[in-house]
Amino acid sequence: MCEAPIGVFDSGVGGLTVYRRIVELLPREAVVYLGDTARVPYGTKSADTVIRYARSCAGVLLARGVKMIVVACNTASAYALEALEAELAVPVVGVIAPGAATAAGISRGGRIGVIGTPGTIASGAYDRAIRGRRPDARVHAKACPLFVPLAEEGWTDGPVPLGAAQAYLEELRAAAVDTLVLGCTHYPLLAGVIGAVMGEGVALVDSARETARAVAKVVVERELLRKSSTRPDHRFLVSDDPENFMRIGRRFLDDVLPAVEWVDF
Ligand code: DGL
Repeated sequence: MCEAPIGVFDSGVGGLTVYRRIVELLPREAVVYLGDTARVPYGTKSADTVIRYARSCAGVLLARGVKMIVVACNTASAYALEALEAELAVPVVGVIAPGAATAAGISRGGRIGVIGTPGTIASGAYDRAIRGRRPDARVHAKACPLFVPLAEEGWTDGPVPLGAAQAYLEELRAAAVDTLVLGCTHYPLLAGVIGAVMGEGVALVDSARETARAVAKVVVERELLRKSSTRPDHRFLVSDDPENFMRIGRRFLDDVLPAVEWVDF
């Protein structure tokens, strides 16, 4: 089982922020990344639909023989993590608990902001996860749907993203949050403008980075570390338009993606 790849899935290209952090921490691991580009976005869909999609993605990865599954999508983690944990025989790691734990731990005054897709925010998953670890926390959550297309367009600085960030984040500034969770795969690309609007005193929590740490912990604890010293295989699968995934994926990895395979499911 140790030689098997880690399976990672997202609604599309955004989970590459999580993939990137996993590879930094676990460079010897093989990875199969699945982007469900035929059904993206998940962030505006209902819980039942997202759970159905997440089950399908997990099925594709299990058919590829993965040793664990990383739900590298905040919306899918918010709605489907419990179901996947209950149903799957392999370990499952989502992106919500790691970011929530870090925010609860580092917040000075317990005023914590969370930004994400409409689905992630409506689910209340971050709110529950943060207050489960820190009952005195005051969680201020805000959906920022335009950040996803801005990141995909490569509009990560300049007046357009700055204006969007000012408009979205105004109420979190007014609530004087001291910590802000970037609760969507795409938001680390906008960390510059988000940080500039929130100001230096506000700590930004990158859920992708925290998730990679959680993945490393599970791999070590379950004795799943790959032993082989040969170069690990990294595969990228998408349910639609591999070329578009490669084009946008470059922005998320600062690198050229290798071949991307189309899968039907
Ligand atoms: N990957 C999604 C998330 O982190 C953002 C894109 C989408 O809406 O599917 O919630």
